[in-house]
Amino acid sequence: MVSPAPLAPGPFEFAVEPYRPELEPWYVFVRNEGYAGFDSPYRDGRAARYPDPPPLRTFLVRDGPLYVGFVDLLRFEGDPAALDVGAIGILPHYRRRGLGGLLLGAASRFGHDAGYRRMQALVRVLDPRIHAFWTRHRFALAALRVEVERGDGVHVWVAPEDVAREARPFAIRNLSYLYSRELP
Ligand SMILES: CC(C)(COP(=O)(O)OP(=O)(O)OC[C@H]1O[C@@H](n2cnc3c(N)ncnc32)[C@H](O)[C@@H]1OP(=O)(O)O)[C@@H](O)C(=O)NCCC(=O)NCCS
Repeated sequence: MVSPAPLAPGPFEFAVEPYRPELEPWYVFVRNEGYAGFDSPYRDGRAARYPDPPPLRTFLVRDGPLYVGFVDLLRFEGDPAALDVGAIGILPHYRRRGLGGLLLGAASRFGHDAGYRRMQALVRVLDPRIHAFWTRHRFALAALRVEVERGDGVHVWVAPEDVAREARPFAIRNLSYLYSRELP
């Protein structure tokens, strides 16, 4: 028996656009299937609706009428000159075609126009291929961060030497790398 051809995405008319409320069902779809899916370290990042409070800006990338990826941009806690790439995801079939890079390009133009000096991302230390994604797009590994839960229940990312002071006992969540790229 001849096996069917693998599902091929197309027609490759990719475009990036800012989020608007009519796109909420698409946002939820791409976030859950592209970012928080079965093959992701961010399975705890599933969403039932667009975040409230909203990110500073969200960009979606589409292939013709199909939305296939997104990026959420936030203020970077503790560094007003930095734009935080809070979440980025591409549907599995659409990965490795430069779409993550297209979204970072839109993010970088937004950051530049809004007066930010750098873009940063906190990346969980789980999949070494993710490192290649950030370095390929000119981010450099800047520091190690530990996600901890403070006594008030809020999650913060702190330097390893600050863990004992900041964290509630037994409240270390994840080890993350801080990636950074200067904006032109
Ligand atoms: C990370 C992610 C957004 C990259 O999107 P993308 O559209 O594939 O990115 P690009 O095409 O611009 O760049 C691809 C590069 O990323 C790297 N890469 C990232 N994830 C990879 C994977 N699963 N397999 C192979 N390479 C991967 C490679 O260096 C690749 O370059 P190559 O094709 O020359 O080998 C996408 O893999 C994804 O959605 N992952 C799951 C969600 C996730 O982990 N998001 C958070 C990242 S911190």
